[in-house]
Amino acid sequence: MMKVMMANTVGRLCFRQKNILAPMVRVGTLPMRLLALDYGADIVYCEELIDIKMAQCERVENDVLQTIDFVAPDERVMFRTCSKESGRVVFQMGTADPERALAVAKLVENDVAAVDVNMGCPKEYSTKGGMGSALLSDPEKIEAILTTLVKGISKPVTCKIRILSTIEDTVNLVKRIEKTGVAAIAVHGRMKDERPRHPVHCDYIQAVAQSVSVPVIANGGSSDIVKEFEDIETFRESTGASSVMLARAAMWNPSVFRQQGALSVDQVMQEYITYAVRYDNNPFNTKYCLCQMLRDRVESPFGKRLHAAQTNQEICEVFGMTELFNKTTAELESRRASLQASEDLSETPELEDDVVIMPVRFERRDYPPQITPKMFLLEWSRKEKLEQPVYETEQRSQDRGFQSTVIVADKKYRSTLWEKSKKFAEQAAALVCLRTLGLPEGRIGEEHSGLVNKRKRDDRKTTAADNDDDESHAPKRHTHTLPQEEEVTCRTKVVNGVCGQTAR
Ligand SMILES: Cc1cc2nc3c(=O)[nH]c(=O)nc-3n(C[C@H](O)[C@H](O)[C@H](O)COP(=O)(O)O)c2cc1C
Repeated sequence: MMKVMMANTVGRLCFRQKNILAPMVRVGTLPMRLLALDYGADIVYCEELIDIKMAQCERVENDVLQTIDFVAPDERVMFRTCSKESGRVVFQMGTADPERALAVAKLVENDVAAVDVNMGCPKEYSTKGGMGSALLSDPEKIEAILTTLVKGISKPVTCKIRILSTIEDTVNLVKRIEKTGVAAIAVHGRMKDERPRHPVHCDYIQAVAQSVSVPVIANGGSSDIVKEFEDIETFRESTGASSVMLARAAMWNPSVFRQQGALSVDQVMQEYITYAVRYDNNPFNTKYCLCQMLRDRVESPFGKRLHAAQTNQEICEVFGMTELFNKTTAELESRRASLQASEDLSETPELEDDVVIMPVRFERRDYPPQITPKMFLLEWSRKEKLEQPVYETEQRSQDRGFQSTVIVADKKYRSTLWEKSKKFAEQAAALVCLRTLGLPEGRIGEEHSGLVNKRKRDDRKTTAADNDDDESHAPKRHTHTLPQEEEVTCRTKVVNGVCGQTAR
């Protein structure tokens, strides 16, 4: 598998004299961040991601999109990043637990430029778990979280707060935060009960900026002060802060970061869609961000057509961008096919003692729901009137990884890679067997990969020599119901003195 190399920037991210895209739930996904950077933002924060959800994610190198994805157990991509934003993307998390925060920070550490903790969100879903602005009344917890992060990761740690009810309390809190070793503190100049329509308190931000030496990032100026690029500097000067962070002004039109002046929203939306298609952004997220940019026009006939769109393709149709959609998806599909082909070629089976081995990993997302390589192998064995495949699984102690060997027609097959679950290890062993024998395995797009055709042609040659016995080798896919894996029974045994299992 081709490896996506994330260019790790040399040196730590500096937060002085920077124009920054603020963290925004649903808005701050990859297309918006890339667009803001294109227009001139120096640093971009991702949307707040909750530690509990992130802790369950797996880091996946997506070679087709050339991204790094953090994927939840339900296959949802929680966080997607790419080399274009490397060194400039800050990962914001919602947390109320130092150890969990550290686990998540370590998970993303090598793919982001800094890690931020949200201490300003006043929404109930955040505060009831002790996160967001609830932390502001628990300075010991703030210190515990930030110190653990600063000590535990090599990247800069920042936090984003709201102001407290008095300047004095706010300054005291920020001084305590500074002592934890954070690299910057973003201050949203509103109290936790204040809404966006309330004026921003520049005097609070100014008092904070004057009392600490760590860079202070001024935030909260979107509707009152910052309407165009020049206003960013006005906001910085009026607060005496090192840097400025924009949320709503950038959500309405990210080209506010453009020194030469903002572009029309229509042009910006087209550029947003170009990134959304290129990085396969969730269509509902794409639509949400476009609706924020449309603002009043969201109720217009055009807005209603956008609202009705369900896929990125349909969104492109609304914007007259079908050609771009077709071209981009064709390019992605062709990259996928060539990666698949080279992956298949690199998998040459070898013999180790009496076991056929190959470095094969089972990727769930490559197969349709309900379809697995094990089912294909079981089906083939039945058609060949062979004994059911027998799986022997081993678990090693150092990382609790699993490795399976499958026995089919007295031959053994095993992947050299260790998997995180017994189920995946068995699927990988089944794949080694299927690929060695040149059999279909049920993968999405297999019919079109050329690989199956090649196998079918090879099989045909064999079967022709075998008196046209078409049923003898190559089972045709989908000609009858596949066996369910649940039909397979399990028994446990000890393998090599370690916890191991044999499944039939
Ligand atoms: C749509 C939206 C989503 C937001 N999500 C987050 C978030 O995930 N994390 C956070 O710290 N603040 C979040 N905020 C608050 C902003 O980051 C910012 O503090 C606030 O909007 C004030 O800045 P502004 O005047 O530039 O809009 C969000 C704001 C908006 C409008």
